[in-house]
Amino acid sequence: AAQLRRAARRVLLRNWTGASTVPSRGLYPHQWSWDSAFVAIGLRHLSAARAQRELETLMAAQWRDGRVPHIVFNPSVPLGAYFPSPDFWRSSTAGAGAGAPARTETSGIVQPPVHALAAWLVHRADPATSRRRGFLRRLYPKLVAWHRYLTEHRDLGGHGLVSVVHPWEPGMDNSPAWDGPLARVEPADPDSFRRADLAHGAPTDRPTDLDYARYVRLASDYRDHGYRDDDAPHPFAVEDPGVNALLIASEHALAEIAAEIAAEIDSGSAAGRAARDGLRSAPDPDVHRARAARLTAALVARLWDARAGMFLCRDVRAGEPGGRGEPIRERSVAGLVPLVAPGLPEEIAQTLADTLGGAHFGLGDTARLAPSYDLVGHAFDPCRYWRGPAWFNVNWLLERGLREYGHRARADALRAAVLTHAVSSGFAEYVDPRTGAGHGAREFSWTAALTLDLLA
Ligand code: DGY
Repeated sequence: AAQLRRAARRVLLRNWTGASTVPSRGLYPHQWSWDSAFVAIGLRHLSAARAQRELETLMAAQWRDGRVPHIVFNPSVPLGAYFPSPDFWRSSTAGAGAGAPARTETSGIVQPPVHALAAWLVHRADPATSRRRGFLRRLYPKLVAWHRYLTEHRDLGGHGLVSVVHPWEPGMDNSPAWDGPLARVEPADPDSFRRADLAHGAPTDRPTDLDYARYVRLASDYRDHGYRDDDAPHPFAVEDPGVNALLIASEHALAEIAAEIAAEIDSGSAAGRAARDGLRSAPDPDVHRARAARLTAALVARLWDARAGMFLCRDVRAGEPGGRGEPIRERSVAGLVPLVAPGLPEEIAQTLADTLGGAHFGLGDTARLAPSYDLVGHAFDPCRYWRGPAWFNVNWLLERGLREYGHRARADALRAAVLTHAVSSGFAEYVDPRTGAGHGAREFSWTAALTLDLLA
């Protein structure tokens, strides 16, 4: 364990840029939103201040409408090193109306809201440093605005859940669940852009050119509508159980954060006075608990599928215009991620654990990782990004959920599997769920960070 800890630590030190962490030196040379949240969860075991800084750097690039961009660009990295680069997104000009920052280049789409959960875990690792630096008190209003952006601007289905508008937003870029809704999107001209990812990875591990042409079309259309959600047509609009479950988990974390700040204010300490002066009103944990409960009810009502034994994504644009949309009948691991949300109905939590152990996800009692997609599904591919490979962040979330819902033996087995596969793959970005063979980037930051967290 000491050796594994040292190796994971080396990865994080190498990928630290001075203010944040790159997911990987070659393939992803900027700051990514949900990567940073997972990285902070690991970094807290090395340096609480650095973990706080990771999240602060990200939140400093927040837009005035509350959105947290999925990429914050590092200006010292050459434009050609990553596509789509800042000149594609043109956030500071095209996004001006939505309140993109003027001096930091970012993308204009978002990623899953894991940040409040990460902030709470970072605080708990070293509450004294956190209080001294005013970490939660400074971050809290930004996190509240972030969640407000999602619930107020992104309820495209009109039933209280958040929709994603681009396959990059749920973070599971080429999941077979997107094949249906993406088929309606006119691909961009393949000569109008050049992928940079293929310089770093095997094409068979990455999304296809046709996928990319559609990603480009969706992003450039959003950009050309000024990234304004009331204006953009959003031909791709999907309610994803993973994104919504992470919002619920983060809303519960905001309740904890609010209680902590309220206690600080009550204590009358210097930090408490600063908190009171900096906030418009004292934070109220009950507001967050109520919002979490509403989101949970909507998640169950809209996305639970008893027959499949899991949550399914919903294609908001399918079926009659203005109708309820249609469930996407693909088993993506996103449908099991709600295990990480506290407060699920008992029988749903139990069914999710059973599904995880069944033929589609194959956890059983063996030392395996959950795949990103149905092991026996028609589109299963053990190597290609989110069409089958097992990812460490997802398995960390599932481990946490299993433990919280009382499945201790299965959580222990999954923890052991994460550690084994992380070391044997050289902290790979993802692995073949059947053999554990590594794919994608190596020395991948969140793989190292979450390994550290499970070792702690
Ligand atoms: C990529 O570039 O592959 C990312 O997944 C999109 O953020």
